[in-house]
Amino acid sequence: MAPCKGSAVREATSVGAVLIGVFDSGIGGLSVLKALRAEMPHEHFIYVADSGHAPYGERDEAHVLERSHAVTRYLLSQNVKAMVIACNTATAAAIHLLRAEHPELTLIGVEPALKPAVALSRTGRIGVMATRGTLASAKFTALLAAQAGQADFVLQPCDGLADAIERSAQTGETAETIALCTRYTGAMGLFSTQTGQIDTLVLGCTHYPFASDHLRAMVGADVQIIDNGEAVARQTRRLLQGHEIASAAPGQVSLFTTGQPYTLQAAAGRWLGLPDPVKTLLI
Ligand code: DGL
Repeated sequence: MAPCKGSAVREATSVGAVLIGVFDSGIGGLSVLKALRAEMPHEHFIYVADSGHAPYGERDEAHVLERSHAVTRYLLSQNVKAMVIACNTATAAAIHLLRAEHPELTLIGVEPALKPAVALSRTGRIGVMATRGTLASAKFTALLAAQAGQADFVLQPCDGLADAIERSAQTGETAETIALCTRYTGAMGLFSTQTGQIDTLVLGCTHYPFASDHLRAMVGADVQIIDNGEAVARQTRRLLQGHEIASAAPGQVSLFTTGQPYTLQAAAGRWLGLPDPVKTLLI
């Protein structure tokens, strides 16, 4: 497939006068896009997987910031009215700067659901799986500090897991994902609703909901597994209230990647039932 740039891309994405941009380092943001489409079925979306520059979670903050700027510039050139940073790592690294630089843009980020986890947990012991970058960020440190004294958090950086999930979307082969989930849940300690054990698991990376069946098998049926996709979708709808497209027709989705189209194509088809062709983006 020929890569596109500039006006060719603009033509390819002219699905409506208004668009909501959604981006992630890869296919993980599809978990948020799924919730967004369920919440706002008539809105048009343009999704960018920055797979050519992933993973974000194991790169330095400057890289994630630079890529967040590049994707934002592209989405703005497509006249998005709102942008959802469907990536915890990019939100932590870039949202404060993007907000300052683009006050006109409705900007929504995603962060690990610590507060909802505190509200749900009975044992007061909460596991948090996230990328190394998210857990090391100043934003996450502040988020954690805001919950100080409310619960014990077991923080688990999950090197390689987002990448393994990308590969499994492409090949259907889940052994690597299962092995990493086993290793990381094992390192966190015991899961159950018994006193002193982890009864709530926060998925602090948008890729991880796509491994939730494996995680569920490991932590047991009684442990609550939570991510922020639906909350982000509700928040996006609230912020866009009054700006929705007055149309009964289903919204369209345009899919772009800076990497190999096949991974996003396979994941969007498998997990969201989106048959649309993925285009390669040079940004
Ligand atoms: N999906 C991204 C997040 O939510 C991270 C994946 C990566 O490391 O690139 O943090």
